[in-house]
Amino acid sequence: MKQIIINGGGVLKGEIKISGAKNSAVALIPAALLSNEKVTITGIPTISDIDALNEILEYLEATVLLKDDLIKIDASNIINKKIPETISIKLRASYYFMSALLGRYKHVEMYFPGGCAIGARPIDQTLKGFRALGATVIEKNNYFKIFAKELKGAYIYLDMPSVGATINTLLVATRAKGETIIENAAREPEIVNVANFLNSMGAKITGAGTSKIKIIGVDSLKSGFAEVIPDRIEAGTYVIAGALIGENLTIKNIIPEHIENLILKLKEMNVPIQVNTTDIIVSKSDNLRPTNIRTAGYPGFPTDLQQPITVLLSLAKGVSTLEETIYEKRFQNVRYLNEMGADIKQLSDRIIKINGPTNYMGKTVVATDLRAGASMILAGLVAKKTTYIDKAEHILRGYENIEKKLKDVGADITINNL
Ligand code: EPU
Repeated sequence: MKQIIINGGGVLKGEIKISGAKNSAVALIPAALLSNEKVTITGIPTISDIDALNEILEYLEATVLLKDDLIKIDASNIINKKIPETISIKLRASYYFMSALLGRYKHVEMYFPGGCAIGARPIDQTLKGFRALGATVIEKNNYFKIFAKELKGAYIYLDMPSVGATINTLLVATRAKGETIIENAAREPEIVNVANFLNSMGAKITGAGTSKIKIIGVDSLKSGFAEVIPDRIEAGTYVIAGALIGENLTIKNIIPEHIENLILKLKEMNVPIQVNTTDIIVSKSDNLRPTNIRTAGYPGFPTDLQQPITVLLSLAKGVSTLEETIYEKRFQNVRYLNEMGADIKQLSDRIIKINGPTNYMGKTVVATDLRAGASMILAGLVAKKTTYIDKAEHILRGYENIEKKLKDVGADITINNL
């Protein structure tokens, strides 16, 4: 187990550079398998989710060169083998291999994907997309065999704008015959990143980033290139850290438009924040105002920043509420924040009420999932004394070099292997 230890109460000053987006990179890498030629992706973050994807690439016998933030993938000679549960379970995004292999070979066998335990996370919309495109899905005890005689374009309405279902449908439709329309598609920037990558390989996709995506299928894809967009959730997490204990903390390499909703909420809360073209400068507020937040798909307030911002809300004087509309189990951090001194009441599965201000005190807590872990780090940074965060490996799945990035701006943080 990894444990993060933080001596809180300091100040964060200087610059933090944001890495490539986890949720883009984990889709771009499997998407590379749709091409018979070598593709290049830059801006790959060094996080354990990428290691897990690499394991799958190696298992399928792709030729991979990963150096710093650059990956070259040559999938011309891959073998479409059944992907075992031991590796697909490591991350949610392993299901992008389902669609990439289905698109390329019209046949895939693998186990249900893993990921953070933050709710049921069904994949019915992905399967609905596959079926609409002509595939048969056989599902037994977590095991999926999906195949098609022919993949044919279709008109698909997603029951909810699911990121995963949008990307999965997009990947298969790229290699299906004829035209596909995805209605009620998710609009996250990561989807645009993937669509641009596929287009660079010769796909014909329009409308990514809107709720209606049109895809004209092509017979083959050639070599392509992608640059992973900056991670808006990593950026948001550090911006919140700046709002907690920053002194002109600069968050570099970001696309501010991607965190517009967070920026507006921080301004509402009276956080001193300066938004420039590719960076944000943020400082602690002496007079934080409470507010109400409701998570939603992009461009709404991201569920992935809900747990981190809870810490900031708890410092504001007065009552804030937070409604989580995406996941039914994303309040597992509340228990630990309360143990550290917060006054947060869970009113229902989906709503919490936060009474501030809080004087956090260091404790031993648990990173139950990736973003819960991020909220523990933020609480640890403001807390008096020492915070010990167990199961910190969850955090390393999604935050590149978090120890170094925070140390460089003044935090007292260490990661230990227990
Ligand atoms: N849903 C269904 N059926 C489906 C698909 C989704 O009911 O077939 C429900 C889910 O249960 C959930 C909601 O729809 O309640 C949203 O799910 P979505 O498919 O949009 O999420 P995802 O693709 O599984 C990605 C990110 C998550 C992020 C969400 C929402 C990746 C690998 N994961 O998940 O990231 O929270 O979109 O933005 O891209 C994280 O980074 O911490 C993380 C959990």
